[in-house]
Amino acid sequence: MRRIWSDKCIVLGVTGSIAAYKACDLASRLVELGAEVVPVLTKSAREFVGAASFEAITGQRAITEMFEPVQNPAIEHIALATRASLFIIAPATANIIAKAAHGIADDWLSTTLLATRAPILFAPAMNSNMYSHPATIANIELLKSRGCHFVGPESGRLACKTIGPGRLIDVQAIIEAATPLVSGNHELAGKRVLITSGGTREPVDPVRFLGNRSSGRMGRALALAALARGAEVTVITGPAHVAPPYGARVVEVETAAEMAEAVAKHAPKADVVIAAAAVADYRVKAPSVQKRKRDGAPVTLDLIENPDILAALGKSRRKGRILVGFAAETERLLENARAKLQKKNLDLIVANQVSVADSGFEVDTVKGAILDRAGPNEEFPLCAKEEFAERLMERIVALANAESDSSGIGRANFVPGG
Ligand SMILES: Cc1cc2nc3c(=O)[nH]c(=O)nc-3n(C[C@H](O)[C@H](O)[C@H](O)COP(=O)(O)O)c2cc1C
Repeated sequence: MRRIWSDKCIVLGVTGSIAAYKACDLASRLVELGAEVVPVLTKSAREFVGAASFEAITGQRAITEMFEPVQNPAIEHIALATRASLFIIAPATANIIAKAAHGIADDWLSTTLLATRAPILFAPAMNSNMYSHPATIANIELLKSRGCHFVGPESGRLACKTIGPGRLIDVQAIIEAATPLVSGNHELAGKRVLITSGGTREPVDPVRFLGNRSSGRMGRALALAALARGAEVTVITGPAHVAPPYGARVVEVETAAEMAEAVAKHAPKADVVIAAAAVADYRVKAPSVQKRKRDGAPVTLDLIENPDILAALGKSRRKGRILVGFAAETERLLENARAKLQKKNLDLIVANQVSVADSGFEVDTVKGAILDRAGPNEEFPLCAKEEFAERLMERIVALANAESDSSGIGRANFVPGG
C-alpha cells in the first residue's frame, strides 16, 4: 500500500456532515501511507470541524475560501486540479453530490471538481431519507455514468437517531476503494482472480468444530494487491479474523466441502486461482446432532478425508489459467513444497515457513519462498503479508505475460506498469 500511495497528491474534500470528524482519521491514515494530502473544507464543514485539525494532521494549509489572495500557487484551484492524483470527498453531503452532478461551481471544492480530470471518489454520508430521495439517487447515477466512483454509505444507526443507509463507510474501506484509483496500475485489468482464504471448520457437534489457526490475513492482502492492479477479485473465505477486502466479491463458507463447492462454481471463469485457504484435510465422519456430553470415558472421533480442492483445480485447469498454491510446512520446507507443486500441477507455490516465530498463521508477517516449475527458488525474508502479496502478484503478472507471449494472443491486459 505504501508504495502505491507514496508521494501521491490527494485532495481531501470535507463537506458539512456530522461525520466530518471522521475525515481527520482518513487524512491521518493517508499521510501515514506517504500521500501528500491537501484538505479542502466547505463553509458548512467548518461548522463541524476546524481547519486547524487538518492542517496539523497533513502539514498543509487547508483550503477554505475561493477568493483568498493566492499564497501558494501550487494549491490554486486549477493548479491543484491538474496536479492531484485523486479527489476523495469524505464525507460527501447530498449537496456536494447534487452540485457535482449538475456542474455547479459556487465554492472552491465544487469549482475544482469541474476543473479536474483526476479520478473522484465520493463517500456519501447523510440521513436515510436524503440518501434514498429520487434526486440523490439520480445524482449518484449521473455521476457514476460519468466515471465518478462511490464507496458506501453503510447502514446503521445515524446521528439523527434513525437506523438505515447513510452512515459514512469505515475509513479503511475508503482507503481500500481509493487504492486501485490511485495506483495507476492496470496489469490485471479485465482478469478474474479467485482467491481462497481463511481456514475451514469441520463440525464435531452443533457447538464444536475442528479448525486451524488461519486468520485470513494472507488472502486479504492478496485480494488487495490484485484489486490494486485492476483485477476483478472473488474471495472464497472460511471464518476469518479480518474484515473482507473492499471491492472484492466475497463468498463465505464454513467447511472444506462448502469451499470445494464454491471453488467448483467460481473457478471455471477465473484467469488466476490462488489457493491460500488452510483447508482441513479431514472431517468428522458423523458429527453429533446433539451437543456431546462429558461422561468420563475417552472419545474417539472417526475422521474421513475431505475433497482435495487444489488437486481438483490442477486436474481441471484450462490452458492459460494460472494456478498458485500454498504449502504451510513445519519441516523440509522447500522439498515438501516442490513435491506439492508437481503433484498438484501448479504454476507457483508459496512455501510458508510456519515453524518460525512471526511467520504463518495469526500474524501479520510471513517468511518462506516462492517456487515455480523451472526457475530457482525465490526465498524471501520475514516481511509483512502486504509486502509479500505484492511480490507474489508480480510473479503472477510475469507468468501471465509469458503465457500471452507464447500463445501469440498478445499481452494487452498484462502490461507492467501500464
Ligand atoms: C447538525 C447537522 C448535520 C448535518 N449532516 C448532514 C449529513 O450528514 N449529510 C448531508 O448531506 N447534509 C447534512 N447536513 C446539511 C448540510 O450541512 C447542508 O446541506 C449544507 O448546505 C452542506 O454544504 P456543503 O455540501 O457545501 O458542505 C447537516 C446539517 C446539520 C445542521
